[in-house]
Amino acid sequence: MANIWVRKPIAVLQAEAKEGEFGSVPGEARLHRTLSLGSLVALGIGAIIGAGIFVLTGHAAAAHAGPAISLSFVLAGIVCAFAGLCYAEMASTVPVAGSAYTYAYATMGEFIAWIIGWDLILEYAFGATTVAIGWSGYVTSFLRDLGVVIPAQFASAPLSYDPAAGTLLLTGALVNVPAVFVILVVTGLLVVGIKESANVNNAIVAFKLAIVILFIVAGVWFVKPSNWVTPSNPMGAFIPPNAGPGQYGWSGIVSGAAVVFFAYIGFDAVSTAAQEARNPQRDMPIGILGSLAICTVLYVLVSLVITGIVPFDRLDVPDPIALGADAIGFGWLAAVIKFGAILGLSSVILVLLLGQPRIFYSMARDGLLPPFAAIVHPRFRTPHITTLITGVCVAIMAGLLPIGLVGKLVSLGTLFAFAVVCLGVLVLRITHPEIHRPFKTPAVFAVAPLGVASAVFLMLSLPSETWLSVAVWFVIGLAIYFLYGRNHSLLGSVKKARRPGSGGSPAAGRDL
Ligand code: ALA
Repeated sequence: MANIWVRKPIAVLQAEAKEGEFGSVPGEARLHRTLSLGSLVALGIGAIIGAGIFVLTGHAAAAHAGPAISLSFVLAGIVCAFAGLCYAEMASTVPVAGSAYTYAYATMGEFIAWIIGWDLILEYAFGATTVAIGWSGYVTSFLRDLGVVIPAQFASAPLSYDPAAGTLLLTGALVNVPAVFVILVVTGLLVVGIKESANVNNAIVAFKLAIVILFIVAGVWFVKPSNWVTPSNPMGAFIPPNAGPGQYGWSGIVSGAAVVFFAYIGFDAVSTAAQEARNPQRDMPIGILGSLAICTVLYVLVSLVITGIVPFDRLDVPDPIALGADAIGFGWLAAVIKFGAILGLSSVILVLLLGQPRIFYSMARDGLLPPFAAIVHPRFRTPHITTLITGVCVAIMAGLLPIGLVGKLVSLGTLFAFAVVCLGVLVLRITHPEIHRPFKTPAVFAVAPLGVASAVFLMLSLPSETWLSVAVWFVIGLAIYFLYGRNHSLLGSVKKARRPGSGGSPAAGRDL
């Protein structure tokens, strides 16, 4: 059993990062180093700005924080900044494709790495599922505005979740066709090439940033503190009086932060593209921290404007930002915002579906998943098989499942990965103080523990049924590890081969 704690040597990871575009086997294709710094920042922004700001802001303001929703964004941004600094150090030190999975393998051993690899499916595959369902809602409403009606049984999930009973119910719908459609189109693009995918993402990000900035610039002139006055906030305070746990006051700000945390998910996806970055050691930290900083500033400004132009109790709608544009008499801007949200959500799906196969790729190269998951297409130079498998599975989930069931799993899974990466940075500083770190987390002995503590704090504010679902997910993952991964791990078999009398094959270690 000892080898489940085996750690992947940092030197091996650094050699993998340097090995170039072709592996040691002649003709074996590897991922293509083509992403510039600009594309990496755009990948981060592409994954970050999406359903969180376009959809969840309204609910979080109306139900939890009121006008102080901007403080919820600041709080969630601080939690992400701790994790972002730790991701930046790891991604510059070991710039390979697996993100938190790889960092855990180097610092806490194979067993924890497997758990994190399995956990990241919650962030990436379930994240793409959640956003695709949100995309379907926006597209259906946009098409309805244009007079095109998609029948309800083809535009929503056939299953709904009853949290009280903990059961799934049939809704009468057949399949969420738009959600399946967007996943399949994005998957096709991702198979064809990383460069093509990055170019599409760059264009979408430019448009998405333009409409967010336009909303801020157009709206700021109409902000009136008198809009803070509502029946639950008669004095018009910036922080409305507390009305129960998580309802306004400071506890509302914290609950709001747990909700809008979803809006930040995605900055870490930059680290999954480390093996496709031209200059990863310099560009990874800037890509991760740059995209996070830009989005934090925009989120705080958007939330200040939206609650300054529409009383917060009216914001609990699926399209609060478009509602804001309508409220200030910019009907045309509301239509552009809806269109921008549709494009914006597409790029979130794109980056999340780009990240997932690259994590599978790293796990398969380590022997923890079957070898086909590490095959790179000879011409497209993408992990096409895992991209297709991921796409088909996510399309099925997006076609059948309700958004309420999957969204919270994504937040819990992501926060868990954040906590492990923060812990991993500390472990590596202690066990390997000597290695070259192109980017060092400042005040790491304060930042990393604060990152762990704040991630755990937000995790604890998620409902118990979410914890239960994640526990079931991990039980399935552990079964797969003990039935497959543990017996096929390259690193485990190398260590076994080196022990006198063990039956491991030395050849298994040639890649190492
Ligand atoms: N941050 C991404 C979004 O808000 C996941 O859609």
